[in-house]
Amino acid sequence: MARHEQLPVPVYSILEPVYGDGSQLEEAQLRFNNLKSKFIEVFGHAPDVYARSPGRVNLIGEHIDYEGYSVLPMAIRQDTIVAIRKHGVEESNEKRLVIANVSEKYSVCTYPADPDQEIDLKNHRWGHYFICGYKGFYEYAKAEGLDVGLPVSLDVMIDGTVPTGSGLSSSAAFVCSSTIAIMAAFDLNFPKKDLAQLTCECEKHIGTQSGGMDQAISVMAQSGFAELIDFNPIQATDVQLPAGGSFVIAHSLAESQKAITAATNYNNRVVECRLAAIVLGIKLGMKPEEATSKVKTLSDVEEMCVAFAGTHGSTDPVLAVKELLSEEPYTAEDIEKITEADLRSIFANSPTSLDVLKAARHYKLFQRASHVYSEAKRVHAFKDTVSSNSRFSSNREEEILKKLGDLMNGSHYSCSVLYECSCPELEELVKVCRDSGALGARLTGAGWGGCAVALVKESIVPEFILNLKEQFYQSRISKGVIEKNDFPLYVFASKPSSGAAIFKF
Ligand code: GLA
Repeated sequence: MARHEQLPVPVYSILEPVYGDGSQLEEAQLRFNNLKSKFIEVFGHAPDVYARSPGRVNLIGEHIDYEGYSVLPMAIRQDTIVAIRKHGVEESNEKRLVIANVSEKYSVCTYPADPDQEIDLKNHRWGHYFICGYKGFYEYAKAEGLDVGLPVSLDVMIDGTVPTGSGLSSSAAFVCSSTIAIMAAFDLNFPKKDLAQLTCECEKHIGTQSGGMDQAISVMAQSGFAELIDFNPIQATDVQLPAGGSFVIAHSLAESQKAITAATNYNNRVVECRLAAIVLGIKLGMKPEEATSKVKTLSDVEEMCVAFAGTHGSTDPVLAVKELLSEEPYTAEDIEKITEADLRSIFANSPTSLDVLKAARHYKLFQRASHVYSEAKRVHAFKDTVSSNSRFSSNREEEILKKLGDLMNGSHYSCSVLYECSCPELEELVKVCRDSGALGARLTGAGWGGCAVALVKESIVPEFILNLKEQFYQSRISKGVIEKNDFPLYVFASKPSSGAAIFKF
């Protein structure tokens, strides 16, 4: 049997396979009806086809996907639905992409239909994410030798329920559903693993050098399972979570603007990791020129680090980091002495990395590499702990949940202290989660705001949520930061949901 990532995106004529049969289905029916009527109202026609793709919560494995390491997220029920209609020249001479949203918060965006257009990064508009998908579809079709006859005119209406700036991947849900909707409008259907890859590549047009986790889980998730996502090649392995535990997602109410803060936050860490990998490579015997041209990620030099650790009676690559990198932050000059090359020349073909170099005062190579290697290990420990579950009694399950919680706490510590991607609100929230009985809690997603995820015994979830409300949210409700009635949007328990789908009714 083909692995599920090799299959195309499922196509349904009813909502049940994705939304089940409870209140979620009712809510979905309302959303689809509303989407269709708004589409007709704005464009004067019904859409041809719909696509949906979910947001995600990452359980463990933060900031390591772009370094080549496996991560362990699950899809959440919140998603983006795209309604689309492709029309020909006979109806409009000037081909255009018109992107509307059911929410009045987002005004209509219009773009030329040229798939080679550059996205205007200085002028950030919400519709840019759709253009990422349009470009991605075109680039893939071109590479596959498919004659899809672009440019075309597209009418598009979006309905998204993944909260933005929350670390739950509203951007990937948007880019994936857009790409899949465009593909479906052309009556095509690519294997999910190709879609995961191409959506990861095309989201980079927005200016962040993201890894592939968010798109991979959004496209490949299976209902009822978290997924261990491996890269190179992209692969998803179902992970059955222990029944006695529940993952509660809670928003810190600090927005995390990944695209806008890229030069100092997200992309900065990608650059720091590359520099750490290059310096390690050189210290471990590579010629500077070879290291600067060949070494892209910390996983590229892991084997050398492990071999070094071996000479000290260990298998842990962190040992090499401890022995070979300085704990003091490096200046650009410090690194250039080692690389024998100007940093700008190393990143010459990456404009977004050059922006990082311009903004950076120093580079914390020791800390970032220590985080990446240790977090990569925690992911496998988490997976192995979960896998040992099925064979044991409920007593043993408690022990397992506790171990998973400890790994999540370890991950948070590393993100906070070594990777420095937390923020005061997340620190406070994670502490409140632990004080309220979570077995473990950590920031999730890119960080610098957004959500925390807590592992909580199923039996205490309502009490836990109530505690969070009192300890973290009540003061914010009183200050008017959020509306009391919106509380359920900011804190909710989540079960693993299903991945992308196409609907033709
Ligand atoms: C963002 C990126 C992902 C991943 C996480 C951090 O969500 O899009 O690729 O790097 O941050 O783990």
